[in-house]
Amino acid sequence: MKTIITGGAGFIGSNYVYYMLERYPDEQFICVDKLTYAGSLENLEAALNNENFKFIKGDIADRDLMYRIFKEEKPDVIINFAAESHVDRSVVDPDIFLQTNIIGTGVLLDACRIYGITRFHQVSTDEVYGDLPLDRPDLFFTEETPIHTSSPYSASKASADLLVLAYHRTFKLPVTISRCSNNYGPYQFPEKLIPLMIANALKDKQLPVYGKGENVRDWLYVKDHCEAIDLIVRKGTVGEVYNIGGHNERTNLEVVKIILKELGKSEDLISFVTDRPGHDRRYAIDPTKISNGLGWRPTTLFDEGIKMTIKWYLDNEAWLQNIISGDYQKYYERMYGSR
Ligand code: NAD
Ligand code: TYD
Repeated sequence: MKTIITGGAGFIGSNYVYYMLERYPDEQFICVDKLTYAGSLENLEAALNNENFKFIKGDIADRDLMYRIFKEEKPDVIINFAAESHVDRSVVDPDIFLQTNIIGTGVLLDACRIYGITRFHQVSTDEVYGDLPLDRPDLFFTEETPIHTSSPYSASKASADLLVLAYHRTFKLPVTISRCSNNYGPYQFPEKLIPLMIANALKDKQLPVYGKGENVRDWLYVKDHCEAIDLIVRKGTVGEVYNIGGHNERTNLEVVKIILKELGKSEDLISFVTDRPGHDRRYAIDPTKISNGLGWRPTTLFDEGIKMTIKWYLDNEAWLQNIISGDYQKYYERMYGSR
């Protein structure tokens, strides 16, 4: 079997590449990635010499290139991780989110239709459901929860989901979609909450918590996400959406305090800053469908996963330094300078 993994040089995609190469030593995997600020070949270093793995630099919105790749490689399965993924960036500059997340997905779907595949899997997000109130802990996102987006990022991901479902209905394309909660783990770019706070704490820099830090996210260790996607692709029902989450809700302030405690740093580093516009209050997944239907359960508890993640960043300080010393400084100044 030959699988194309788009966006495989980013956070979740690179974890997926390693997971798959180890789990299926007889299959072939091709990563197609544009290598934006969020993607790096450094993330795939340990895969590049594997004879079952190939890297192709390319933009999923580049129709000619995608058709050429499909024609030459004849993939069986496509797993689309490629996306602009950061909400804050989408607030400042939505355009590239529409281009990659919507147009790019459309191009891949057309390529699948023309060249034929056995499965197209869209890696989506729980953010397409909007948010839940903080005072209703009994409410969760199910696959039937209406799409109700808040940010240009989530709106672009929801648009892509609708396209994927339309290609199933209209062209009988064999698709599946997964909508996962917030991931954490190795190789996450330090613009997202957990790695940003680890990076700042290590340098004794202030930890910028939006608003009062009361917003809630439902955290899942990245390897559990990878396992769920693979299960959906191999055993899931075509045309279906599956939510992925492990009932691991924490307020942002709780997460930041855990990181500070693990690193032996003072809570005085916490700095409450201006809130994100349109900030979603709470995400919480009901994973009943994937649990009952496919037998998936997360295996890493948050207390254990956050320790493993912090250790990874400590062990890979050169990786972190490499990112932080580049254009990242400009991004940080723009995003946090006058907050
Ligand atoms: P990421 O930003 O770390 O990585 C995205 C990757 O896509 C990068 O390697 C980048 O170079 C590549 N890319 C961007 N534009 C591209 C284009 N036009 N063509 C080809 N490649 C392109 O993102 P991530 O956190 O790994 O997220 C991966 C996917 O999972 C995204 O689709 C995201 O919406 C979804 N998701 C993420 C989370 C999370 O918590 N991070 C949760 C649920 C779903
Ligand atoms: P993030 O990692 O950007 O993921 P998402 O917005 O897609 O859930 O943010 C997670 C939460 O952390 C979110 O409620 C916003 C908050 N946050 C901060 O308080 N400070 C920060 O510097 C960042 C990046 C996020």
